[in-house]
Amino acid sequence: MEEKRPVASAGDAAGKIIVALDVDSAEEACELVRKLTPPLNYFKVGSRLFVACGPSIIEALKELSVRVFLDLKFHDIPNTVAEAAEVATRYSVDMFNVHLSGGREMVKAAVDRVTDTAKKLNLPRPIVLGVTVLSSMSEEMLQGGGVSRPLDEHVVELTRMGLSCGLDGVIASPREAVLLRERCGGDFLIVTPGVRPAWAARDDQQRILTPKQALLAGASYLVIGRPIIKHPSPRQAADLIVSEIDTI
Ligand code: C5P
Repeated sequence: MEEKRPVASAGDAAGKIIVALDVDSAEEACELVRKLTPPLNYFKVGSRLFVACGPSIIEALKELSVRVFLDLKFHDIPNTVAEAAEVATRYSVDMFNVHLSGGREMVKAAVDRVTDTAKKLNLPRPIVLGVTVLSSMSEEMLQGGGVSRPLDEHVVELTRMGLSCGLDGVIASPREAVLLRERCGGDFLIVTPGVRPAWAARDDQQRILTPKQALLAGASYLVIGRPIIKHPSPRQAADLIVSEIDTI
């Protein structure tokens, strides 16, 4: 029987944080996980860690009983993305993403393959998210690539398309979260990077909100990397963030 992945519920402050394991060895990644669990239990594997370690990093994290967001932003022909989605499902990742600019057929192929694979193998179905427009893109850059509508409008339309294909939600900046909740409703996940506690360095993130502001703007999960993993005490940083959002 296909089973949906559980999502963080109201009151589960620690469950709303996904820590970006932006390091390049399994040892470093697992050491961070050991420092942060519990209460944190959701961790993001991006291209840097995945290229360094391969799929064994997913198995290593699963051994530590934590949830895994595989952030590889698939974007290819529909068949190739469907095959990648099947492999991600077989590895029991809890969440992964595809680029919405890959088009309706590609997104639908990924969602359908995930559903079929989970059903066939009796595995929980991973949460599938769509990347709308990368936060590094400006409206001018988008138009240079042939997109004539305004950036905000493009984000809303891509989100609608993704949700109509059966996606569980999107990755969006906290600023877009407000717009997406207004225009697309409350019944889908919004996962937001670009989150900075008031005490943390901004780094290269531009349009930031604090964890509390991002959740109030409509985010379902917060992706947080450097404020936690580069802190002299990752555990202390995580505890501070959890206590900030616990008051919502
Ligand atoms: O260290 P920091 O909190 O900025 O990490 C944010 C994480 O979210 C990084 O892994 C980054 O690649 C990812 N990300 C992002 N902005 C996007 C999409 C993903 O910062 N638009």
